[in-house]
Amino acid sequence: MSAAVRRKPPVRTERRFFATAARGLEPLVADELRALGAKDAKEERGGASFGGPLAQAYRACLWLRTANRVLMPLARFPAPDADRLYTAINRMPWENDLSPDGTLAVDFTGSNEKIIHTGFGAQRVKDAIVDRFREKSGRRPSVNLEQPDLRINVHLHRDIATVSIDLSGDSLHQRGYRARGVAAPLKENLAAALLLKCSWPESVKQGGAFVDPMCGSGTLAIEAALIAGDVAPGLWRTRWGFSGWRKHDPQLWDHLLQEARRRRDAGRDKIPVILGFDWDSTAIDAAQTNAERAGLITSKDAPPEGEWQKQQGLIQFECCALADNVLPAGLTPGLVVTNPPYGERLGAAGQLGPLYTELGRWLRSQCPGWRAGVITGNPDLAKLVGVRARKINTFYNGALECKLLQFDIEPERFMRSVDV
Ligand SMILES: C[S@@+](CC[C@H](N)C(=O)[O-])C[C@H]1O[C@@H](n2cnc3c(N)ncnc32)[C@H](O)[C@@H]1O
Repeated sequence: MSAAVRRKPPVRTERRFFATAARGLEPLVADELRALGAKDAKEERGGASFGGPLAQAYRACLWLRTANRVLMPLARFPAPDADRLYTAINRMPWENDLSPDGTLAVDFTGSNEKIIHTGFGAQRVKDAIVDRFREKSGRRPSVNLEQPDLRINVHLHRDIATVSIDLSGDSLHQRGYRARGVAAPLKENLAAALLLKCSWPESVKQGGAFVDPMCGSGTLAIEAALIAGDVAPGLWRTRWGFSGWRKHDPQLWDHLLQEARRRRDAGRDKIPVILGFDWDSTAIDAAQTNAERAGLITSKDAPPEGEWQKQQGLIQFECCALADNVLPAGLTPGLVVTNPPYGERLGAAGQLGPLYTELGRWLRSQCPGWRAGVITGNPDLAKLVGVRARKINTFYNGALECKLLQFDIEPERFMRSVDV
Protein backbone atom coordinates (compact mmCIF):
# COMPACT_ATOMS: atom_id res chain seq x y z
CA MET A 1 0.00 0.00 0.00
CA SER A 2 1.28 3.44 -0.82
CA ALA A 3 2.61 5.42 2.12
CA ALA A 4 0.16 8.14 1.08
CA VAL A 5 -2.85 5.85 1.74
CA ARG A 6 -3.20 5.59 5.49
CA ARG A 7 -5.60 2.78 6.52
CA LYS A 8 -7.47 2.99 9.80
CA PRO A 9 -7.34 0.04 12.28
CA PRO A 10 -9.88 -2.84 12.05
CA VAL A 11 -13.55 -2.24 12.84
CA ARG A 12 -13.60 -3.77 16.35
CA THR A 13 -11.20 -1.16 17.65
CA GLU A 14 -12.13 2.42 18.40
CA ARG A 15 -12.10 4.74 15.43
CA ARG A 16 -13.63 7.98 14.24
CA PHE A 17 -16.84 8.30 12.28
CA PHE A 18 -18.64 11.23 10.68
CA ALA A 19 -22.37 11.97 10.73
CA THR A 20 -23.31 14.31 7.88
CA ALA A 21 -25.92 17.00 8.39
CA ALA A 22 -27.73 19.74 6.48
CA ARG A 23 -26.37 23.24 7.00
CA GLY A 24 -27.46 24.59 10.38
CA LEU A 25 -28.11 21.16 11.92
CA GLU A 26 -24.47 20.34 12.82
CA PRO A 27 -24.72 21.41 16.52
CA LEU A 28 -27.90 19.37 16.98
CA VAL A 29 -26.23 16.28 15.49
CA ALA A 30 -23.24 16.75 17.82
CA ASP A 31 -25.61 17.07 20.82
CA GLU A 32 -27.47 13.92 19.76
CA LEU A 33 -24.19 12.02 19.42
CA ARG A 34 -23.13 13.09 22.93
CA ALA A 35 -26.47 11.90 24.29
CA LEU A 36 -25.85 8.54 22.56
CA GLY A 37 -22.55 8.23 24.44
CA ALA A 38 -20.22 8.92 21.50
CA LYS A 39 -16.69 9.92 22.41
CA ASP A 40 -15.49 13.43 21.59
CA ALA A 41 -18.44 14.35 19.38
CA LYS A 42 -17.25 17.43 17.55
CA GLU A 43 -19.30 19.75 15.42
CA GLU A 44 -17.65 20.27 12.03
CA ARG A 45 -18.49 21.74 8.65
CA GLY A 46 -21.18 19.52 7.10
CA GLY A 47 -21.78 17.37 10.17
CA ALA A 48 -20.16 16.06 13.34
CA SER A 49 -17.30 13.64 13.90
CA PHE A 50 -17.31 11.16 16.78
CA GLY A 51 -15.28 8.30 18.15
CA GLY A 52 -16.00 4.81 19.43
CA PRO A 53 -16.26 1.18 18.31
CA LEU A 54 -18.48 0.01 15.44
CA ALA A 55 -21.38 -0.31 17.90
CA GLN A 56 -21.33 3.45 18.32
CA ALA A 57 -21.72 3.98 14.57
CA TYR A 58 -24.55 1.40 14.41
CA ARG A 59 -26.23 3.18 17.32
CA ALA A 60 -25.87 6.49 15.47
CA CYS A 61 -27.54 4.97 12.37
CA LEU A 62 -30.45 3.70 14.43
CA TRP A 63 -30.96 6.67 16.77
CA LEU A 64 -29.82 9.92 15.13
CA ARG A 65 -32.90 12.01 14.39
CA THR A 66 -31.30 15.04 12.76
CA ALA A 67 -28.41 13.63 10.64
CA ASN A 68 -28.31 12.59 6.98
CA ARG A 69 -25.68 9.84 6.89
CA VAL A 70 -23.15 8.01 9.04
CA LEU A 71 -19.78 7.57 7.32
CA MET A 72 -16.83 5.39 8.31
CA PRO A 73 -13.66 7.03 6.92
CA LEU A 74 -11.16 4.47 5.59
CA ALA A 75 -8.43 6.62 4.11
CA ARG A 76 -7.39 10.16 3.37
CA PHE A 77 -4.82 11.01 0.72
CA PRO A 78 -3.74 13.69 -1.74
CA ALA A 79 -5.68 13.52 -5.03
CA PRO A 80 -4.67 16.56 -7.06
CA ASP A 81 -5.78 14.86 -10.28
CA ALA A 82 -7.78 11.86 -11.54
CA ASP A 83 -4.71 9.60 -11.97
CA ARG A 84 -3.56 10.10 -8.37
CA LEU A 85 -7.13 9.47 -7.22
CA TYR A 86 -7.36 6.27 -9.30
CA THR A 87 -4.00 4.91 -8.08
CA ALA A 88 -4.69 5.51 -4.39
CA ILE A 89 -8.19 4.01 -4.57
CA ASN A 90 -6.91 1.04 -6.61
CA ARG A 91 -4.37 0.22 -3.87
CA MET A 92 -6.96 -0.03 -1.11
CA PRO A 93 -7.91 -3.63 -0.12
CA TRP A 94 -11.56 -3.43 -1.19
CA GLU A 95 -11.85 -7.24 -1.12
CA ASN A 96 -11.99 -6.92 2.69
CA ASP A 97 -15.21 -4.94 2.41
CA LEU A 98 -16.95 -6.26 -0.70
CA SER A 99 -17.30 -9.62 -2.45
CA PRO A 100 -16.21 -9.75 -6.12
CA ASP A 101 -19.80 -10.77 -6.92
CA GLY A 102 -21.28 -7.91 -4.88
CA THR A 103 -22.59 -4.53 -5.95
CA LEU A 104 -21.32 -1.03 -5.30
CA ALA A 105 -22.25 2.63 -5.71
CA VAL A 106 -20.01 5.67 -5.42
CA ASP A 107 -21.14 9.05 -4.09
CA PHE A 108 -18.63 11.76 -4.93
CA THR A 109 -18.73 15.29 -3.54
CA GLY A 110 -16.40 18.24 -3.95
CA SER A 111 -14.05 19.21 -6.75
CA ASN A 112 -10.62 20.65 -7.45
CA GLU A 113 -8.81 22.15 -10.44
CA LYS A 114 -8.44 18.80 -12.24
CA ILE A 115 -11.50 16.93 -11.01
CA ILE A 116 -14.22 19.37 -11.80
CA HIS A 117 -17.26 17.16 -12.20
CA THR A 118 -18.47 14.85 -9.44
CA GLY A 119 -19.73 12.36 -12.06
CA PHE A 120 -16.20 12.07 -13.46
CA GLY A 121 -14.73 11.65 -9.96
CA ALA A 122 -17.25 8.90 -9.15
CA GLN A 123 -16.48 7.13 -12.43
CA ARG A 124 -12.71 7.06 -11.77
CA VAL A 125 -13.27 5.75 -8.23
CA LYS A 126 -15.57 3.02 -9.53
CA ASP A 127 -13.08 2.07 -12.28
CA ALA A 128 -10.22 1.88 -9.76
CA ILE A 129 -12.16 -0.51 -7.49
CA VAL A 130 -13.53 -2.68 -10.29
CA ASP A 131 -10.11 -2.94 -11.98
CA ARG A 132 -8.55 -4.08 -8.71
CA PHE A 133 -11.09 -6.90 -8.37
CA ARG A 134 -10.63 -7.95 -12.00
CA GLU A 135 -6.84 -8.04 -11.64
CA LYS A 136 -7.00 -10.06 -8.42
CA SER A 137 -9.81 -12.53 -9.08
CA GLY A 138 -10.92 -12.20 -12.67
CA ARG A 139 -14.36 -11.26 -11.32
CA ARG A 140 -15.72 -7.80 -10.66
CA PRO A 141 -18.54 -6.26 -8.64
CA SER A 142 -21.29 -4.56 -10.60
CA VAL A 143 -22.85 -1.16 -10.07
CA ASN A 144 -26.20 -0.82 -8.31
CA LEU A 145 -27.02 2.81 -7.61
CA GLU A 146 -30.19 2.08 -5.62
CA GLN A 147 -29.37 -0.78 -3.25
CA PRO A 148 -25.65 -1.57 -3.43
CA ASP A 149 -23.89 -3.95 -1.02
CA LEU A 150 -21.34 -1.21 -0.45
CA ARG A 151 -21.93 2.52 -0.82
CA ILE A 152 -18.64 4.36 -1.02
CA ASN A 153 -18.43 8.04 -0.27
CA VAL A 154 -15.53 10.13 -1.58
CA HIS A 155 -15.23 13.74 -0.53
CA LEU A 156 -12.68 15.94 -2.24
CA HIS A 157 -11.68 19.09 -0.40
CA ARG A 158 -9.03 21.08 -2.23
CA ASP A 159 -6.56 18.29 -3.20
CA ILE A 160 -7.32 15.89 -0.35
CA ALA A 161 -9.73 12.98 -0.83
CA THR A 162 -11.48 11.30 2.10
CA VAL A 163 -12.78 7.82 1.30
CA SER A 164 -15.51 6.39 3.52
CA ILE A 165 -18.02 3.58 3.67
CA ASP A 166 -21.56 4.94 4.00
CA LEU A 167 -23.01 2.88 6.86
CA SER A 168 -26.44 4.44 6.61
CA GLY A 169 -27.18 3.64 2.94
CA ASP A 170 -30.24 5.75 2.13
CA SER A 171 -30.31 9.13 3.83
CA LEU A 172 -31.44 8.82 7.44
CA HIS A 173 -34.38 11.18 6.91
CA GLN A 174 -36.02 8.30 5.05
CA ARG A 175 -37.36 6.68 8.19
CA GLY A 176 -39.56 4.27 6.30
CA TYR A 177 -42.91 5.26 7.81
CA ARG A 178 -43.86 7.78 5.13
CA ALA A 179 -46.27 6.02 2.82
CA ARG A 180 -47.74 9.13 1.33
CA GLY A 181 -46.64 12.71 1.23
CA VAL A 182 -48.57 15.87 0.54
CA ALA A 183 -47.49 18.76 -1.67
CA ALA A 184 -44.68 20.15 0.51
CA PRO A 185 -43.71 17.76 3.32
CA LEU A 186 -40.90 18.63 5.69
CA LYS A 187 -38.00 16.22 5.72
CA GLU A 188 -38.27 14.03 8.80
CA ASN A 189 -34.84 15.01 10.12
CA LEU A 190 -35.59 18.72 9.73
CA ALA A 191 -38.90 18.23 11.57
CA ALA A 192 -37.05 16.47 14.41
CA ALA A 193 -34.47 19.28 14.47
CA LEU A 194 -37.19 21.93 14.84
CA LEU A 195 -38.75 20.01 17.72
CA LEU A 196 -35.42 19.59 19.52
CA LYS A 197 -34.60 23.27 18.97
CA CYS A 198 -37.98 24.14 20.53
CA SER A 199 -37.08 22.02 23.61
CA TRP A 200 -39.87 19.50 23.00
CA PRO A 201 -38.24 16.86 25.29
CA GLU A 202 -38.47 19.33 28.23
CA SER A 203 -42.14 19.96 27.44
CA VAL A 204 -42.77 16.17 27.39
CA LYS A 205 -41.29 15.85 30.90
CA GLN A 206 -43.93 18.33 32.10
CA GLY A 207 -46.72 16.43 30.34
CA GLY A 208 -47.36 19.25 27.86
CA ALA A 209 -49.43 18.51 24.74
CA PHE A 210 -48.27 19.02 21.16
CA VAL A 211 -50.32 20.68 18.42
CA ASP A 212 -49.64 21.34 14.74
CA PRO A 213 -52.63 23.30 13.36
CA MET A 214 -51.42 22.94 9.72
CA CYS A 215 -49.94 19.47 9.89
CA GLY A 216 -49.98 18.37 6.22
CA SER A 217 -48.81 14.74 6.18
CA GLY A 218 -48.17 14.86 9.93
CA THR A 219 -44.36 14.89 9.95
CA LEU A 220 -43.99 17.19 12.98
CA ALA A 221 -46.69 15.39 14.99
CA ILE A 222 -45.20 11.96 14.20
CA GLU A 223 -41.63 13.03 14.98
CA ALA A 224 -42.93 14.62 18.22
CA ALA A 225 -44.48 11.27 19.19
CA LEU A 226 -41.29 9.35 18.36
CA ILE A 227 -39.16 11.70 20.48
CA ALA A 228 -41.63 11.61 23.37
CA GLY A 229 -41.99 7.83 23.20
CA ASP A 230 -38.23 7.14 23.03
CA VAL A 231 -38.73 5.44 19.66
CA ALA A 232 -35.60 5.00 17.52
CA PRO A 233 -36.22 6.75 14.19
CA GLY A 234 -34.51 3.93 12.28
CA LEU A 235 -36.70 1.10 13.58
CA TRP A 236 -38.68 0.72 10.33
CA ARG A 237 -35.77 0.62 7.94
CA THR A 238 -34.99 -2.85 6.65
CA ARG A 239 -31.89 -2.01 4.65
CA TRP A 240 -28.78 -0.15 5.72
CA GLY A 241 -25.46 0.74 4.17
CA PHE A 242 -23.86 -2.04 6.19
CA SER A 243 -26.39 -4.75 5.26
CA GLY A 244 -24.23 -6.11 2.41
CA TRP A 245 -20.87 -5.07 3.87
CA ARG A 246 -18.45 -7.97 4.42
CA LYS A 247 -17.54 -6.82 7.93
CA HIS A 248 -21.12 -6.28 9.08
CA ASP A 249 -21.71 -7.68 12.58
CA PRO A 250 -25.33 -8.98 12.53
CA GLN A 251 -25.31 -10.01 16.21
CA LEU A 252 -24.26 -6.57 17.31
CA TRP A 253 -26.94 -4.97 15.15
CA ASP A 254 -29.60 -7.38 16.38
CA HIS A 255 -28.70 -6.57 19.98
CA LEU A 256 -29.16 -2.84 19.29
CA LEU A 257 -32.48 -3.48 17.54
CA GLN A 258 -33.80 -5.49 20.47
CA GLU A 259 -32.77 -2.77 22.89
CA ALA A 260 -34.55 -0.17 20.72
CA ARG A 261 -37.72 -2.31 20.61
CA ARG A 262 -37.69 -2.62 24.41
CA ARG A 263 -37.32 1.15 24.76
CA ARG A 264 -40.15 1.73 22.28
CA ASP A 265 -42.48 -0.58 24.22
CA ALA A 266 -41.58 1.07 27.52
CA GLY A 267 -41.94 4.56 26.05
CA ARG A 268 -45.50 4.31 24.79
CA ASP A 269 -46.97 5.66 28.04
CA LYS A 270 -44.71 8.71 27.92
CA ILE A 271 -46.29 10.08 24.75
CA PRO A 272 -48.51 13.04 25.72
CA VAL A 273 -51.54 14.25 23.78
CA ILE A 274 -50.53 15.03 20.20
CA LEU A 275 -52.93 16.73 17.80
CA GLY A 276 -52.61 17.53 14.11
CA PHE A 277 -55.07 19.57 12.08
CA ASP A 278 -55.28 20.53 8.41
CA TRP A 279 -58.09 21.85 6.29
CA ASP A 280 -57.19 19.43 3.50
CA SER A 281 -58.75 16.00 4.05
CA THR A 282 -56.20 14.35 1.73
CA ALA A 283 -53.42 15.64 3.97
CA ILE A 284 -55.21 14.29 7.06
CA ASP A 285 -55.61 10.87 5.42
CA ALA A 286 -51.89 10.86 4.59
CA ALA A 287 -50.99 11.89 8.16
CA GLN A 288 -53.16 9.13 9.58
CA THR A 289 -51.60 6.50 7.30
CA ASN A 290 -48.06 7.68 8.05
CA ALA A 291 -48.63 7.67 11.81
CA GLU A 292 -50.10 4.17 11.70
CA ARG A 293 -47.10 2.98 9.72
CA ALA A 294 -44.94 4.49 12.46
CA GLY A 295 -46.74 2.21 14.93
CA LEU A 296 -48.59 5.04 16.63
CA ILE A 297 -52.17 4.78 17.78
CA THR A 298 -54.27 7.27 15.87
CA SER A 299 -57.82 8.46 15.95
CA LYS A 300 -60.02 10.74 13.92
CA ASP A 301 -62.69 10.75 16.63
CA ALA A 302 -62.39 13.25 19.42
CA PRO A 303 -62.63 11.64 22.87
CA PRO A 304 -65.45 12.82 25.16
CA GLU A 305 -65.10 16.32 26.62
CA GLY A 306 -62.65 16.40 29.54
CA GLU A 307 -61.09 13.05 28.65
CA TRP A 308 -58.05 14.48 26.91
CA GLN A 309 -55.61 13.96 29.75
CA LYS A 310 -56.26 10.21 29.46
CA GLN A 311 -55.25 10.07 25.81
CA GLN A 312 -51.52 9.45 26.27
CA GLY A 313 -49.97 7.56 23.40
CA LEU A 314 -52.59 8.66 20.92
CA ILE A 315 -52.12 10.96 17.96
CA GLN A 316 -55.28 12.58 16.74
CA PHE A 317 -55.56 14.07 13.25
CA GLU A 318 -58.60 16.09 12.33
CA CYS A 319 -59.72 17.95 9.24
CA CYS A 320 -60.20 21.53 10.42
CA ALA A 321 -59.42 25.03 9.10
CA LEU A 322 -57.32 27.23 11.36
CA ALA A 323 -60.10 29.82 11.70
CA ASP A 324 -62.49 27.15 13.07
CA ASN A 325 -59.96 25.40 15.29
CA VAL A 326 -61.01 25.39 18.93
CA LEU A 327 -58.66 23.26 21.02
CA PRO A 328 -60.33 20.83 23.43
CA ALA A 329 -60.59 21.99 27.03
CA GLY A 330 -58.30 20.41 29.60
CA LEU A 331 -55.10 20.11 27.56
CA THR A 332 -51.88 20.64 29.50
CA PRO A 333 -50.21 23.66 27.82
CA GLY A 334 -47.25 22.48 25.81
CA LEU A 335 -45.79 23.18 22.40
CA VAL A 336 -47.18 24.24 19.02
CA VAL A 337 -44.81 23.76 16.07
CA THR A 338 -46.08 24.41 12.60
CA ASN A 339 -44.91 24.85 9.03
CA PRO A 340 -47.47 27.08 7.29
CA PRO A 341 -47.29 27.55 3.51
CA TYR A 342 -44.92 30.39 2.67
CA GLY A 343 -45.34 30.87 -1.01
CA GLU A 344 -42.32 28.96 -2.28
CA ARG A 345 -44.09 25.78 -3.20
CA LEU A 346 -47.68 26.13 -1.97
CA GLY A 347 -49.80 29.20 -2.70
CA ALA A 348 -48.51 32.61 -3.69
CA ALA A 349 -46.72 34.56 -0.95
CA GLY A 350 -48.92 37.59 -1.57
CA GLN A 351 -52.10 35.74 -0.69
CA LEU A 352 -50.74 34.25 2.51
CA GLY A 353 -50.65 37.39 4.71
CA PRO A 354 -54.12 36.80 6.22
CA LEU A 355 -53.15 33.20 7.12
CA TYR A 356 -50.18 34.38 9.22
CA THR A 357 -52.31 37.06 10.89
CA GLU A 358 -54.90 34.35 11.61
CA LEU A 359 -52.16 32.12 13.05
CA GLY A 360 -51.16 34.88 15.49
CA ARG A 361 -54.80 35.38 16.52
CA TRP A 362 -55.27 31.63 16.95
CA LEU A 363 -52.12 31.27 19.06
CA ARG A 364 -53.21 34.08 21.40
CA SER A 365 -56.78 32.87 21.74
CA GLN A 366 -56.20 29.09 21.89
CA CYS A 367 -52.72 28.69 23.30
CA PRO A 368 -52.05 31.17 26.14
CA GLY A 369 -49.27 29.79 28.33
CA TRP A 370 -47.95 27.57 25.50
CA ARG A 371 -44.70 27.88 23.60
CA ALA A 372 -44.74 27.94 19.79
CA GLY A 373 -42.36 27.52 16.90
CA VAL A 374 -43.17 28.62 13.35
CA ILE A 375 -40.89 27.71 10.45
CA THR A 376 -41.16 29.85 7.37
CA GLY A 377 -39.12 30.69 4.30
CA ASN A 378 -40.64 34.15 4.21
CA PRO A 379 -39.70 36.43 7.14
CA ASP A 380 -42.05 39.15 5.85
CA LEU A 381 -44.98 36.81 6.36
CA ALA A 382 -43.67 35.87 9.80
CA LYS A 383 -43.98 39.52 10.90
CA LEU A 384 -47.73 39.22 10.42
CA VAL A 385 -48.00 36.67 13.24
CA GLY A 386 -47.87 39.76 15.45
CA VAL A 387 -46.19 38.11 18.44
CA ARG A 388 -42.64 39.06 19.41
CA ALA A 389 -40.30 36.17 18.66
CA ARG A 390 -38.20 35.12 21.67
CA LYS A 391 -35.63 33.44 19.44
CA ILE A 392 -34.96 33.14 15.71
CA ASN A 393 -32.82 30.38 14.17
CA THR A 394 -31.88 29.74 10.56
CA PHE A 395 -32.41 26.34 8.97
CA TYR A 396 -32.38 25.08 5.40
CA ASN A 397 -35.33 23.26 3.87
CA GLY A 398 -33.42 21.82 0.92
CA ALA A 399 -31.66 24.84 -0.60
CA LEU A 400 -34.19 27.28 0.82
CA GLU A 401 -33.20 29.39 3.84
CA CYS A 402 -35.90 29.26 6.50
CA LYS A 403 -36.35 30.93 9.86
CA LEU A 404 -37.65 29.16 12.94
CA LEU A 405 -39.34 31.74 15.14
CA GLN A 406 -40.00 30.77 18.74
CA PHE A 407 -42.73 32.46 20.74
CA ASP A 408 -43.99 32.43 24.30
CA ILE A 409 -47.71 32.93 23.92
CA GLU A 410 -49.23 35.44 26.30
CA PRO A 411 -52.73 36.64 25.40
CA GLU A 412 -52.50 40.25 26.56
CA ARG A 413 -49.02 41.30 25.48
CA PHE A 414 -48.59 41.22 21.75
CA MET A 415 -47.27 43.55 19.09
CA ARG A 416 -48.53 44.30 15.63
CA SER A 417 -45.24 43.38 13.98
CA VAL A 418 -41.74 42.29 14.83
CA ASP A 419 -38.41 42.59 13.09
CA VAL A 420 -37.11 39.23 11.94
C1 LIG B 1 -46.19 23.34 4.10
S1 LIG B 1 -47.59 22.35 4.35
C2 LIG B 1 -47.21 21.49 5.83
C3 LIG B 1 -46.40 20.27 5.55
C4 LIG B 1 -46.18 19.41 6.75
N1 LIG B 1 -45.29 20.03 7.72
C5 LIG B 1 -45.66 18.05 6.31
O1 LIG B 1 -44.53 17.70 6.67
O2 LIG B 1 -46.35 17.35 5.59
C6 LIG B 1 -48.77 23.51 4.93
C7 LIG B 1 -50.13 22.89 5.22
O3 LIG B 1 -50.97 23.94 5.71
C8 LIG B 1 -52.29 23.61 5.34
N2 LIG B 1 -53.11 24.84 5.45
C9 LIG B 1 -53.00 25.98 4.74
N3 LIG B 1 -53.90 26.87 5.15
C10 LIG B 1 -54.62 26.29 6.15
C11 LIG B 1 -55.69 26.73 6.98
N4 LIG B 1 -56.21 27.96 6.86
N5 LIG B 1 -56.16 25.89 7.93
C12 LIG B 1 -55.62 24.65 8.07
N6 LIG B 1 -54.61 24.17 7.29
C13 LIG B 1 -54.12 25.00 6.35
C14 LIG B 1 -52.15 23.08 3.93
O4 LIG B 1 -53.26 22.29 3.57
C15 LIG B 1 -50.83 22.30 4.01
O5 LIG B 1 -51.07 20.93 4.23
